[in-house]
Amino acid sequence: MNLDQFSQYACQRVDAFLKQQLDLYPPAVNLQEAMAYSLFNGGKRVRPMLTYATASLFADPNPLTDASAAAIEAIHAYSLIHDDLPAMDDDDLRRGKPTNHIQFDEATAILAGDALQTFAFEMLSAATLNNDKTQLQLIRELSLAAGRHGMITGQMIDLANVDQNISIETLEQMHAHKTGALIRASVRMGALSTERATAQQLTALDAYAAAIGLAFQVQDDIIDITSDTQTLGKTQFSDEEANKPTYPKLLGLEGAQALAKQLHDQAIKDISPFGEAARPLVELANYIIGRNH
Ligand code: IPE
Ligand code: IPE
Ligand code: MG
Ligand code: MG
Ligand code: MG
Repeated sequence: MNLDQFSQYACQRVDAFLKQQLDLYPPAVNLQEAMAYSLFNGGKRVRPMLTYATASLFADPNPLTDASAAAIEAIHAYSLIHDDLPAMDDDDLRRGKPTNHIQFDEATAILAGDALQTFAFEMLSAATLNNDKTQLQLIRELSLAAGRHGMITGQMIDLANVDQNISIETLEQMHAHKTGALIRASVRMGALSTERATAQQLTALDAYAAAIGLAFQVQDDIIDITSDTQTLGKTQFSDEEANKPTYPKLLGLEGAQALAKQLHDQAIKDISPFGEAARPLVELANYIIGRNH
């Protein structure tokens, strides 16, 4: 499978699972609609792709892999809804469409985000998965990545440093947390869902994931400058206008591009022990630093 085919496979698979799960216990109509709006309005599904690609190194993806991919995407969707709120980045365009709070209203957006977060753990804890031990492991992995040890801390560092000059070390901490943590969880949960990865293999995958997780946010900062609003689906120069700490701001555009490339090369080296089987992960790393939206 080339990357396009793999992407199609992973998107269809995770979307079907998410739709089926979302319709299991439909809540109040507005809430369901606002959740679905941010789950199915054109995300690239990079995290589910990473989960399926990693699982495939060990076995065919199984229901635990589907639940992992879907749970991570639900957390991601929630994080974007809240990230766009007036109290945070105050953005009105996402994936080429009005952000959730513009399409609905602020209260609905906050609640849809909250509900997507718990929806993630609802999927991972489903009794039908019938594998308490691994489910608990996956739940813990995602809790750590999404919460105070991961994304939320990154978002706090981000918001606390608007209009500030920060060190490269703080910026790296911020990026590794706000975006890197969930990308790392996508890879780790893919491996854990198969119950086949050795500790050594998990360490190699973790190193790959840490490098591309950081690279993903470096590239996100770059395309805020180099890509236009139409291509991005979000407003160009949003970071500059909000005076956010970013890699291009600290290292210059070329410095940031060089860093993205260096992280990419490191990631490829980290998964070289898997040989040809890791081709989808190599292609995903290429995609992450080559993307313009
Ligand atoms: C955007 O993530 C937010 C960041 C963490 C940088 P994506 O670029 O993966 O967003 P979608 O889901 O494809 O819209
Ligand atoms: C958002 O980072 C990261 C999370 C949502 C956790 P950004 O604020 O840079 O993402 P975009 O550029 O709005 O997608
Ligand atoms: Mg933000
Ligand atoms: Mg933002
Ligand atoms: Mg950004």
